[in-house]
Amino acid sequence: MLHLQIQNSLAERIGRRHGVSEARLRSFCQTHSEKIQTIFRSKAKPGYNFVSLPDDAANLTKVRKFAEQQAKAGWKNVVVLGIGGSSLGAIAVRDALSSEFSKGPKLYVVDNIDPAYTHELLANLDLKKTIFVVISKSGTTTEPMVLYALVKEALMKKFPKDYQKHLVFVTDPKDGLLRRMAKDEGITAFDIPPKIGGRFSVLTNVGLVPLALAGFDISGLLKGAREMREGLKRSKGMDNPALRLAALQYILDKKKDKVMTVLMPYSNYLFRVGDWYRQLLAESIGKGKGAGPTPINALGTTDQHSQLQLYNDGPNNKFLIFMRVLKHAGDPKIGQVLPEEISFLNGKKMSQIIDAAYKGTSEALTKHKRPNVTIDVPKVDARALGQLFMLFEFQVALLGLLYKVDAFNQPGVEHSKQITKNILRAND
Ligand code: PA5
Repeated sequence: MLHLQIQNSLAERIGRRHGVSEARLRSFCQTHSEKIQTIFRSKAKPGYNFVSLPDDAANLTKVRKFAEQQAKAGWKNVVVLGIGGSSLGAIAVRDALSSEFSKGPKLYVVDNIDPAYTHELLANLDLKKTIFVVISKSGTTTEPMVLYALVKEALMKKFPKDYQKHLVFVTDPKDGLLRRMAKDEGITAFDIPPKIGGRFSVLTNVGLVPLALAGFDISGLLKGAREMREGLKRSKGMDNPALRLAALQYILDKKKDKVMTVLMPYSNYLFRVGDWYRQLLAESIGKGKGAGPTPINALGTTDQHSQLQLYNDGPNNKFLIFMRVLKHAGDPKIGQVLPEEISFLNGKKMSQIIDAAYKGTSEALTKHKRPNVTIDVPKVDARALGQLFMLFEFQVALLGLLYKVDAFNQPGVEHSKQITKNILRAND
């Protein structure tokens, strides 16, 4: 199970100006402990139903069956067309559980409408070996619709009789253009539960369908999320890791001017979880009258050589969340090959070195009175990812209650979507 260490954010370690005293944190968590139950009690309400997602066994069976059937087609490429909440979860899981060296079908996620990139993609993909998963809850978002239009045309040209075989939709069960097109053209479509927000949807078909098609362990994801959810249900006050993290982040922002949150995994594989979390935090809490810390993602050790100067020595306005992997899937050891000056590296495993770098960084930040916490991840697998998703979603739902904002709407995004559409209509 994941473990959250918070001592480097406590006043006892970094002083009262920048840290939160343990007694204050404990009493804050005690006062707000009821909010944990509020979320569980509200699980039928729009947004809060994310807590029930890991229980949908019937849907899991359906998706796995579909993926098994499709595996017979021998797809080499699974291409997601979707954006924001409809793309970031699949990217996070793909990059956590595979790399450019992995075998098996390739999962591409096209979430931007870059003209040159799209041109290159269409020119180089072997369409015969490609299935496209078009994901849009609303079924009207400009980006996936533009990409779908181009893909559909290319497919119809090449496979005029059965282009539908290369397409799957994931969308609202009733509403939206995608749902209508699926019905009109006989394209397979999977549902997104209607009350779920995009950034809370990684454990719905938004994540499950493309990940299953590309051969990832979706049962493990749901199992991990269930385990975390049950742990969160059982624990109260400061013992609840989601509340402990939310409380710290809230107090540090409101009372200690830590207006930015940096998520910094010491693992290439977990880096894109940072992109997913960035959206979750920004779109859920960044609203109302100036609420919401600005999320930043960084990678250890890489960004020690690019960002750490600022984090250690620049404005003390950040809260850092490290993620540390306890057991790596592979762990090369250095032989006796390096010269005297750096011979301390000889005979060391890479895990020892990356861990020393993480400790060096968190210790230096603590000495500079920069609040930081660490999430220990036993190993990077589907289960741990499911746990992380549930932990962070719960934490952000709690933040919504603390900041008194609706964590599940996104008026700022909708506004920009609308203006873009008006500009395009005016140019018609
Ligand atoms: O979290 C959200 O709701 C948004 O980021 C959406 O996921 C994003 O705008 C894409 O919307 P849709 O899935 O309707 O195309």
